[in-house]
Amino acid sequence: MKNLIELKNISKIFKTEAGEFPALKNINLSIGRGEFVGVIGKSGSGKSTLINMITGIDKPTSGKVYVDGSPIHNMDENSIAKYRGKKMGIVFQFFQLLPNLTAIENIMLPMDFTNTYDKDVREKKALEILESVDIADQAYKMPAMLSGGQQQRVAIGRALANDPPILFADEPTGNLDSKTSEKIFSLFEELVRRNKTVLMVTHDEDQARRVNRSLVISDGEIIEEFLAGTFPTLSESELIWMTKRLKRKNYKGGQIILKKDMPVDSLYLVTKGKVEIVLHVDGMAEMVVAEFCCGQYFGEIELLRHSNSVATARAAIGSEVEVATLPKDDFLNLLNRSSETKKQVDKVAKIRLAENIQKTKRK
Ligand SMILES: Nc1ncnc2c1ncn2[C@@H]1O[C@H](COP(=O)(O)OP(=O)(O)OP(=O)(O)O)[C@@H](O)[C@H]1O
Ligand SMILES: [Mg+2]
Repeated sequence: MKNLIELKNISKIFKTEAGEFPALKNINLSIGRGEFVGVIGKSGSGKSTLINMITGIDKPTSGKVYVDGSPIHNMDENSIAKYRGKKMGIVFQFFQLLPNLTAIENIMLPMDFTNTYDKDVREKKALEILESVDIADQAYKMPAMLSGGQQQRVAIGRALANDPPILFADEPTGNLDSKTSEKIFSLFEELVRRNKTVLMVTHDEDQARRVNRSLVISDGEIIEEFLAGTFPTLSESELIWMTKRLKRKNYKGGQIILKKDMPVDSLYLVTKGKVEIVLHVDGMAEMVVAEFCCGQYFGEIELLRHSNSVATARAAIGSEVEVATLPKDDFLNLLNRSSETKKQVDKVAKIRLAENIQKTKRK
């Protein structure tokens, strides 16, 4: 399996006195090694539940979770605990430090559990970790003697105890002042530079902008990446509506996606790779008039004008392209519902048409 983390059709339904509550609805997600992924979404949207599914803290109602090829959804408590100890560091939203152990003992516990380091170096290692989260001076205190922010840093230290390849952090900087929070965030960036994978829930918009990828969860569903950035004027429910209607297609380098003068039946959103827009000027060689990458769309000119394709779109040579397509009727329907988005798309189409005319004239 190529991806480090793979979720297939994950649903989680909680049974409560008030009835069944779907906290995650058919989530599909792939995360590669070395990615720094931010998870954002309103309170109650399912962020912690998602982390619990991947770490095996809780089991999905249906669907499959693989981490580094291991089927987390199928593993028993014992093997999952061992697996977690070696492969995953977890910073829980509510710290969950053991109250009857000192800060440093809380850090040494996962080391003892997995025998990662020789017994006689564990304390030194644990001190170094506490140092890295700026809390070495509190090493021998009990958690109850520490402030919320200090406990949070110990919890981060504990997650790093065995130098795990994957780190899950649920609002790790929620209780920290901005300076300490920045320090922790830089520490995570450093881990990613060392090819570790970090999945972090955050409410901090600045942090969400600085990660490689951000996943937006809304009512137990993941909004297609890029959509929120590409159509900033759509509401969350419109983004979810759109996400559900997207279909993915893959193209190899050089392969045609849309041919000039052929009918266009969808909007194309580039989700991976690079797409070239090519025009042929009479008697002249082809000309690449535009290049689109992740988060950019094409096909809007034709859908707005109900015309055939004004240019050829193809996957750039050497680029594996993935697009998400939205059927024409759904796209026009969405523009009808959101006049701000219609204005934005109209403007893009107008600028692009003008550019095409200018570029082909100049030749
Ligand atoms: N054990 C449980 N039993 C019943 N419902 C639950 C349980 N755990 C979570 N839920 C519900 O599932 C939904 C998602 O919860 P979750 O904790 O994942 O949200 P969250 O996005 O992490 O929120 P927050 O930002 O407040 O931490 C919520 O509506 C919550 O009430
Ligand atoms: Mg939570």
